[in-house]
Amino acid sequence: MKALVYHGPGERGWDTAPDPSIREPTDAIVRVDTTTICGTDLHILKGDVPEVKAGTILGHEAVGTVQEVGAAVTTLVPGDRVLLSCVSACGRCRFCKEGRYGQCLGGGGWIFGHLIDGVQAELARVPFADNSAYKVPDQLSDEQVLFLADILPTSYEVGVLNGAVSPGDVVAIVGAGPIGLAAILTARLYTPGLIVAIDLAESRLRSALSFGADVVVDNARENAVEKIMQLTGGLGADVAFEAVGVPDTFELATELIRPGGRVANIGVHGHSAQLHLERLWIRDVTITTGLVDTFSIPRLMRLIASGRLDPSLFATHRFALEDTMAAYDVFADAANTNALKVVLEGEARRTSASPREQASALA
Ligand SMILES: NC(=O)c1ccc[n+]([C@@H]2O[C@H](COP(=O)([O-])OP(=O)(O)OC[C@H]3O[C@@H](n4cnc5c(N)ncnc54)[C@H](O)[C@@H]3O)[C@@H](O)[C@H]2O)c1
Ligand SMILES: [Zn+2]
Ligand SMILES: [Zn+2]
Repeated sequence: MKALVYHGPGERGWDTAPDPSIREPTDAIVRVDTTTICGTDLHILKGDVPEVKAGTILGHEAVGTVQEVGAAVTTLVPGDRVLLSCVSACGRCRFCKEGRYGQCLGGGGWIFGHLIDGVQAELARVPFADNSAYKVPDQLSDEQVLFLADILPTSYEVGVLNGAVSPGDVVAIVGAGPIGLAAILTARLYTPGLIVAIDLAESRLRSALSFGADVVVDNARENAVEKIMQLTGGLGADVAFEAVGVPDTFELATELIRPGGRVANIGVHGHSAQLHLERLWIRDVTITTGLVDTFSIPRLMRLIASGRLDPSLFATHRFALEDTMAAYDVFADAANTNALKVVLEGEARRTSASPREQASALA
């Protein structure tokens, strides 16, 4: 098969790799029909994630078709169309039993394209398939559910739920990349009073408006704290999300929060940030952190099926799977290409009508 292989910092190739095979009875082999690239893949390519060994196939977000299942897999059969979560779950350990799959102690967690081969490939081995692959209803296209593999549950679980967004809240979102934009979409499920998106890039601020932000702040040119104070009668935001992953934006999120407010950190941080406890201690502020668990995939999938959540705006570019190398170039140059998410389609998806198209053709 062909796959996108990491060859060490700065090096990647669209290589021939051995077809994966069942290793554990809980494995499934899935043909990848649709996949995408994450900002984390770019971090890996920069060498920021040293656990990823040269020779690893990248990618942790995909929709595919089950080809083969191990002897212990009981809920999937060949032919099933499934969403593969970025987080795998053994289903048996203490944390899996609490729905904290991201912290799995039994060999799951974020392993695809990290500790084991990932899904930017024609075929993938899916460990713990019963617990980690989600059947996709026929009426939903691959592209409609693809972003449930990572960005939507991340922003919903680590942002909206940890931040306890409530009706009427002023929600400030620092960073309007795919994660910040997914936070806008999923915060809207709770009818906030005002959504303020803060970013340095004009194109990202334009996207934020189209995803449903009420106000955007360019913090290269405006003072975001002053702006939030103006909008809230000097109090600050009820909830702030950090969706960048650098010290400055974490500190900004803690500065623009009201007394009693909640800061939900979503960004992945590589450096220590200042925690101004000398100013925060008296303000009853709650700060949360989190790695996505993806326990919310079924709920978010129902919202997509009922039309209450529409992730189609994320897909800005489409490529054939064999053009993954070019797709990386476009995704990595988002400042010029305005890419949010690139959709990579395998041959089977490009040559056959999608289930949704088949359904509408029959209607
Ligand atoms: N916690 C988790 O489980 C989890 C899961 C997935 C991703 N993440 C993290 O979420 C973060 C966001 O991901 P993404 O894919 O949207 O990243 P991204 O790089 O595409 O977007 C980040 C955005 O922040 C903006 N930005 C940079 N500096 C800024 C500043 N000083 N002020 C305001 N905006 C600024 C950029 O212009 C960009 O639009 C990353 O750190 C990523 O690793 C966390
Ligand atoms: Zn990711
Ligand atoms: Zn587990």
